Amino acid sequence: MKRWIRLTAVILVPVFLFLSCCSCGTQSDAGKVQTIRIGVTVYRKDDTFVASLCTYLEQIAKKKENESGKKIVLNIVDGQSSQALQNDQVDQFISRNYDVICVNEVDRTAAATIVNKVKAAKIPLIFFNREPVEEDLRMWDHAYYVGADAAQSGRLQGEIVVEAWKKNKSLDLNGDGKLQYVMLEGEQEHQDALLRTEYSIKAITGAGIHVEKLADDIANWQRAQANSKMTQWIEKFGSRIEVVLANNDDMALGAIDALKASHLDPKPIVLGIDATQAGLKAVDDGSMYGTVFNDARAQAQAIFDLSYSYATGFTTSGGAKPSGRYVRIPYRVVTRENCQDILDEMRS
Ligand code: BGC
Ligand code: CA
Repeated sequence: MKRWIRLTAVILVPVFLFLSCCSCGTQSDAGKVQTIRIGVTVYRKDDTFVASLCTYLEQIAKKKENESGKKIVLNIVDGQSSQALQNDQVDQFISRNYDVICVNEVDRTAAATIVNKVKAAKIPLIFFNREPVEEDLRMWDHAYYVGADAAQSGRLQGEIVVEAWKKNKSLDLNGDGKLQYVMLEGEQEHQDALLRTEYSIKAITGAGIHVEKLADDIANWQRAQANSKMTQWIEKFGSRIEVVLANNDDMALGAIDALKASHLDPKPIVLGIDATQAGLKAVDDGSMYGTVFNDARAQAQAIFDLSYSYATGFTTSGGAKPSGRYVRIPYRVVTRENCQDILDEMRS
């Protein structure tokens, strides 16, 4: 009997040691990872905000490659506004054994297809900037969202208007005590478009200011589309427009283009969101009254850190994973007073 126990121990102890070593493998193997493959697909590469986020991602990956001595393959592909194309791109990442897949969905309401594919391949998945519905995200334990709190950006944009309105009575061009505005909206189904439109106005009316909407329309985040909408509104409403609210800086810049071409005098104030380079320049020269800083670099950093952790440490097979599925980077108000600080911060 004793011999049997001894024999069992001789066989089982090494097996146990081997198994326990395997289960902690991803942690102890961290130092050995030589190549990390991160696949990124974006809804369209020519979107100003998304393009700047991609540039930051590339810079961050390069820096980490130099620091860590690991090879980091960051493959960023363009979905060209086609969900079918984007699905194929995800298939390619899967077939090439990418360590992490990051998706800026073309159609954020149709995330389930991608979640299912990536889950079946047991690859961690990070959505960013275009938020999937929570139900889709929860289908895979290793799916995340990196972005920001869209309602907050609307609120902050509205608060800039409230400050301006209270400080400067001449903004009420027709002196009727009401704020006449037009609204330029992003894509129809985009969480940022919906929530910014809603919460900017809520912040204004919540501060006791009466508003009158002259017009609103979708300009799909794009400068040229916003320019042509604004040109029509200037023809129709002229100096009745007191405030132009745009869901992003590119559309605010499109409205400013139209205003400059119109020689309308006096002009309404124009508000954007993002604090892109061109947006900040417009705030600095006074053509845009204010914007809201949508921190592309901090979002890129969060996407990269999560990807790197998965590729070198966390595991999708029952091991450690970060707590929480949502990373939201706070927005900040930008006006002429602090726009130089934001520019300096971006350059550093
Ligand atoms: C940005 C827009 C951008 C959109 C793309 C938003 O968060 O503010 O500028 O076009 O994301 O998804
Ligand atoms: Ca008025």
